[in-house]
Amino acid sequence: MYRRWYGIDLDPARVVVTSGSSGAFILAFSALFDAGNRVAMGFPGYPSYRQILRAMSLEPVGIETRPEDRYQPRPDALPDAQGLILASPGNPSGTVLRLDEMRALTQAAAAKGMAVISDEIYHGLSYGDRCHSALEVTDEVFVVNSFSKYFSMTGWRVGWMIVPETHLRTVERLAQNLFICPPHASQVAALAALDCEDEAQANLAFYRENRRLMLEGLPKAGFTRIAPPEGAFYIYADVSDFTDNSLAFATEILDRAGVAVTPGLDFDPDRGARTLRFSYARATSDIAEGLRRLTEFMASR
Ligand SMILES: Cc1ncc(COP(=O)(O)O)c(C=O)c1O
Repeated sequence: MYRRWYGIDLDPARVVVTSGSSGAFILAFSALFDAGNRVAMGFPGYPSYRQILRAMSLEPVGIETRPEDRYQPRPDALPDAQGLILASPGNPSGTVLRLDEMRALTQAAAAKGMAVISDEIYHGLSYGDRCHSALEVTDEVFVVNSFSKYFSMTGWRVGWMIVPETHLRTVERLAQNLFICPPHASQVAALAALDCEDEAQANLAFYRENRRLMLEGLPKAGFTRIAPPEGAFYIYADVSDFTDNSLAFATEILDRAGVAVTPGLDFDPDRGARTLRFSYARATSDIAEGLRRLTEFMASR
């Protein structure tokens, strides 16, 4: 798959099967860091990075990303830290790092002595150019992926991680002690899923249509300030024209319109009070109905 997707020749011995990407983060963080180490990540970002880090007595360091950088960290603005988490396509932004951006970020991190973890869980779900793996620019990286998104196997709890050869034995020993292995039955199903790319591509076609509806419907409803949703199935919107309390706003939308949206606070502890994330990973008819309700709700405010 790595040869087909990225043109990479990968030694299968470097692939560690994990209990979802969540299990991979625990393994990567324990293999790479010691209590008190600092690990940087772009804000907005997936909330569990910082919660897992905290639970392991590591210090999450948020990098405030900018809409003009498509909510991705800039190589010249990395803080002092022992680690850096990259995510492309990102959650909640859906934005994708170009190959030159990936190269610049991994090089800048290496120059600062930071270990890089690249979360590639939304690969396969992109609507323009294909997604680039950090492995295309360096082998000194922990690449995390999962069957939860492109392969739609969220509940089966299987993911994988590509580890530099130097860290393989450490990760193997940690995995043996922390998890033993991901459920065997799930691994068998995941193996079969690798041969089901036609089905995965058919799902991608649904997401593509949903995304088209969202990009048409959200601005009509009044949500005009959105990050370019290049991948994943999310749209991140600046709603500062309407609120400075995204939690209350999301609650109001849920109560009055019957549409579930996520307050940006989960992804960006400060600025997220003025943002919302919309997910379009549902049937197209649900998306159309959700947009209809949102439009009606916004018109009635
Ligand atoms: C960016 C990102 N990474 C990791 C995960 C966790 O996925 P998994 O089911 O593989 O543990 C998610 C889930 O939403 C995610 O959005």
